[in-house]
Amino acid sequence: MPSTSNNPHLPFGENKNAPWYGKDILSVKQFDRPNLEYVFGVAHEMRGMVERVGTFDLLKGKILANLFYEPSTRTSSSFTAAMERLGGSVIPINEVKYSSVSKGESLADTVRTLECYTDVIVLRHPETGAAAIAAKAARKPIINAGDGVGEHPTQALLDTFTIFEELGLETIDGKTITMLGDLKYGRTVHSLARLASMYNVKLNYVSPEILRMPEAVMEEVKAKGVAQAEYRSLEQVLPETDVLYVTRVQKERFENPEDYDKVKGAYVIDPEIMKAAKKEMIVMHPLPRVGEISPDFDDDPRAAYFRQMEYGLYVRMALLAMVLGKA
Ligand code: CP
Repeated sequence: MPSTSNNPHLPFGENKNAPWYGKDILSVKQFDRPNLEYVFGVAHEMRGMVERVGTFDLLKGKILANLFYEPSTRTSSSFTAAMERLGGSVIPINEVKYSSVSKGESLADTVRTLECYTDVIVLRHPETGAAAIAAKAARKPIINAGDGVGEHPTQALLDTFTIFEELGLETIDGKTITMLGDLKYGRTVHSLARLASMYNVKLNYVSPEILRMPEAVMEEVKAKGVAQAEYRSLEQVLPETDVLYVTRVQKERFENPEDYDKVKGAYVIDPEIMKAAKKEMIVMHPLPRVGEISPDFDDDPRAAYFRQMEYGLYVRMALLAMVLGKA
């Protein structure tokens, strides 16, 4: 929602004609290839600025509400760091039980409250569609930081940015991306499959039967004409893989703990398994990991998962600058 000032010379004024000014970021479906590459261009600039000057005043005077109904380390802290690197400040609500949510306040009323004090709200919530509900109630931009098993669009943007920055490609066309692990509950792979299908890639899905990629996501990918195939064994596709995207089996989303016990530890990446992979490829993981990548692999140059977290800072800086009319 625009500020009340129309004076373009005010120090904290924003460009209301900027394409993403005042917009919510709820789903990767909002992005096409040109504006995806626009985000990456801004993120690349942000990377350069952080490396050169560390912190700068692009969003001085702006305030972010970081509203997390579910645990987070990376998303929460990288949005905080992004806002502070841009000269803004943050109201953190990382433990909603200490807020009025514990008294029964609705999500809509909570975001209506926070937008009185802030310019943008980042929301993580356990229910699919919660970010859209918040966006309907709010006048200020809502950024979806993960809604249940639905989407995690900023993670998918940083994942795709990581692929571009790491493989040094003009595009990711022609590459094979293999997603491994919990493809049913892993919202990051749902968003990444949708984004990657804007390119001429091949997508492999390797999972236990009960954790297959949802049909709805596969239908969307199919509609884009992208090649995709399902496997139960990683060995079948590891040698052709350019990007191996590993996910955690999400214990907290299982209704039946016995089902979790059957599939936990189904795949473990370690130096021995990775002998079959290309020398020039990357292994990614949204993290946290709980055993699906052995720490013995961490020193391998193909292990991109710690660098991936840093790329998240630059992408989130870009998104904040965009929705606040500064990019
Ligand atoms: N990748 C990710 O969303 O991590 P957090 O749950 O720590 O935010």
